[in-house]
Amino acid sequence: MPIAAPDTERPAGTPLAPSTCTAVVGLQWGDEGKGKAVDLLAGDHDAVVRYNGGANAGHSVVVHGERYSLHLIPSGILYPGKLAVVGNGVVVDPEKLIEEIDGLRERGVDTSGIVLSDRAHVVTPYHKAEDAIREEMLKSAGAHGSDSQEIGTTRRGIGPCYADKVQRSTAVRVGDLLRPEVLREKVAMACRFKNASLSGMDPAFKPFDPEAMTAQLAAAGERLRPAIRDTVYLLHDLLGQGKRLLFEGANATLLDVDHGTYPFVTASSCAALGIGPGTGVSDRQLSRVIGVMKAYTTRVGRGPLPTELKSEVGDRIRERGREYGTTTGRPRRVGWLDLVAVRYSAMLSGVTGLALTMLDVLEGLDEVRVCTAYRIDGEQTDRFRPDAYELGRVEPVYSTFRGFSGDIGAVRERSELPGGARAYLDFIEDYVGVPIRIVSVGPDRAQTMVDHS
Ligand code: IMP
Repeated sequence: MPIAAPDTERPAGTPLAPSTCTAVVGLQWGDEGKGKAVDLLAGDHDAVVRYNGGANAGHSVVVHGERYSLHLIPSGILYPGKLAVVGNGVVVDPEKLIEEIDGLRERGVDTSGIVLSDRAHVVTPYHKAEDAIREEMLKSAGAHGSDSQEIGTTRRGIGPCYADKVQRSTAVRVGDLLRPEVLREKVAMACRFKNASLSGMDPAFKPFDPEAMTAQLAAAGERLRPAIRDTVYLLHDLLGQGKRLLFEGANATLLDVDHGTYPFVTASSCAALGIGPGTGVSDRQLSRVIGVMKAYTTRVGRGPLPTELKSEVGDRIRERGREYGTTTGRPRRVGWLDLVAVRYSAMLSGVTGLALTMLDVLEGLDEVRVCTAYRIDGEQTDRFRPDAYELGRVEPVYSTFRGFSGDIGAVRERSELPGGARAYLDFIEDYVGVPIRIVSVGPDRAQTMVDHS
């Protein structure tokens, strides 16, 4: 089914003010609803650009009641006529990308706007095997009394692929898929390293056949050939023509490899800080950074979550919010909103506006709590502790709000929200020091309030 033109889809109001480039980043541990925010903003931009991560990300967009789950392709593809650029900072699993393109085509989505950087790195079967074997080894570290050391990755090969990027000599880039001789040599050498190390780690490991893998990767390269380009020059050419770019962050700031809750993070620069290295476009081009946050907190995988709710309230939020991973189907851990964390993330990415999602999920609770400070070592602080060991020791300090009820999903103006919900939004704006520009009260494009000022 073709997707309707954006103008008929826009929630009530005038178009957003013009700006050169916008970034959309997640301010928590992922799954904040960035896909929907990107989809809403895409109409005002000429290209939507991914700069980090890989098929570990899962962005859901609902259009006309139809749900689209995207992993590698920027969500802007659901707008006809937009370029959807996979930048050099992304790690691309070619099989997954082809599967995603075919899935969209089958549903009538025009995929001709997809552009793939020739410098993006390729996730291969040995990266996925390595990810899984490492996680199993780390997990069994806990079998002898100590805690499991597993990160809880998506096992999509993300960490091992970025590690090879830094190792350099055997890393395969998208451009190599089109150079059979270079590809053959790289894969042969990589398989020597991987087969030796992985068979030492797992006795059940079956060595990879470099010839078969080269053929498989080369065939994927041929399929993708029309989309492969030097995206750095492409993006600068677009900027030179006065076109507007929308950068779509995958994963989220608290999963950022440098600034997140290390070591329970992903392997890329997820904050807006990653846009420069991940696309070749300077952050000086950004005139607007939208930080997307849920009205509560979720996290998948291991790592500290100070406001975690292991209670009926948590279960209720999980069910109402359908908090199960888009990529892995794992149930997400749920907690109250942590504003200490959100303000830290907004600071890192230079956020100029907030998009608050899933407000409707909190409807009907007797009370709603928000973490405004941490207690640690007998002291109170409103500064985030990104180190996982430190964050695991903090105790949240809460402000409590009375709950709100009513059919929030049907509200289209912020002023028409129940008083309790309005007070909640005002409090968030005051605390973070950034205005809320978008409020989402349901999965559909139409269930959104946009402040165009
Ligand atoms: P990896 O990115 O597969 O290496 O996983 C590292 C950590 O990041 C794990 O806890 C994952 O669950 C988490 N993670 C990675 N991508 C996402 C995402 O898009 N949303 C939520 N969590 C993610």
